[in-house]
Amino acid sequence: MRAEPTLVQWVEINRQAFLHNVREFQKRLGPTGLMAVIKANAYGHGLLEIARLSTEAGIDWFGVHSLEEGLALRQAGFRQKILILGYLPLAQAGEAVGADLRVTVYNLETLRALAAASRKLHRPALVHLKIETGTNRQGIAINKLGSFLSWLKKTPEVKVEGVSSHFANIEDTTDDYYPRYQLDNFLQAVKFLQASGLDVPVKHMSCSAAAILFPETYFNLVRVGIGLYGLWPSRETLVSCRLRGQEPLKLKPVLSWRARVAQIKAVPRGAYIGYGCTYRTTRPTRLAIIPVGYYDGYDRSLSNSAYVLIKGKRAQVRGRVCMDFIMVDITDIPGVKLEDTVTLLGSQGKEKIQADQLASLAGSISYEIVTRINPLIPRLIV
Ligand SMILES: Cc1ncc(COP(=O)(O)O)c(C=O)c1O
Repeated sequence: MRAEPTLVQWVEINRQAFLHNVREFQKRLGPTGLMAVIKANAYGHGLLEIARLSTEAGIDWFGVHSLEEGLALRQAGFRQKILILGYLPLAQAGEAVGADLRVTVYNLETLRALAAASRKLHRPALVHLKIETGTNRQGIAINKLGSFLSWLKKTPEVKVEGVSSHFANIEDTTDDYYPRYQLDNFLQAVKFLQASGLDVPVKHMSCSAAAILFPETYFNLVRVGIGLYGLWPSRETLVSCRLRGQEPLKLKPVLSWRARVAQIKAVPRGAYIGYGCTYRTTRPTRLAIIPVGYYDGYDRSLSNSAYVLIKGKRAQVRGRVCMDFIMVDITDIPGVKLEDTVTLLGSQGKEKIQADQLASLAGSISYEIVTRINPLIPRLIV
């Protein structure tokens, strides 16, 4: 679909790029299953749009954060296996079981609520036990697994379909000490479950960086988020890949963010621009006013530092990012007209703005730059 002339701003999702990225991971993973992590509005790319493209790519596992995301997928008709990765409030257990959603579990209370829902609805509750291996986020401590097992043995209506964990320090370093420590802990937990007679069919702990770097963490399913959207987890992941002599995946960014010029104006030398008068022109200046601000996810820390693309050229943000507007300098870009297309993220002509670039200006990571693009902005598959 091409951008509607009626839109003030829109996000373009490149279908070919997404399908290409899936193939790149599938090549790397071989027979290992691939879960598309589509939580947080598919990292800002649009939950249903990415679910649709994932279906086209043959992906049969989705990872979401919440019941609400899982239900939105079911209501839109998606039949894939859906795993809630976040927290399921006890009172939502019935809805999760009713919608055939798998639940990541790390509390006995959650198991009890799911068992009750299962008995009421006469259908099994499918759970994935999350093991605490060193991230100290969600997870069952290995020395507490025994109490979960004794409870599970008495409760056949709760089926342990999966066992999982998550890496803490795999993107931020080229040192593999901590991932290996976590992998060892996970293997210990898996061994304990096996020795206790619990045969768990699905084992998973890899994210994008692990999928790229460590085949020994694959087991039979990996959970890939950022890489499917064509973004490297970090520069360190790319460096590690090269250091290990592995072929880097050829990832293509999927998302472009565009808007229209809302006004063009000339201001004299010495004019202040925007709230707080943080920028003062040093020459007679032409400004384009762009109706995008921090409400839309264009971070306020990009004030006076980022640039956008107009007519394939860089236009510097002048003054502070407002709630709904930015002002950019088009003095050196002749011929800019009202409603010309502005690129905030993505390519235009020979120039491009990458999520990593905005992230380093904003003191953040690409994950946050794309994820925080306001979900109300239309996502168009192109
Ligand atoms: C539990 C879990 N699994 C997998 C992922 C995917 O990680 P990535 O986007 O680095 O592939 C995330 C991302 O935050 C996560 O929280």
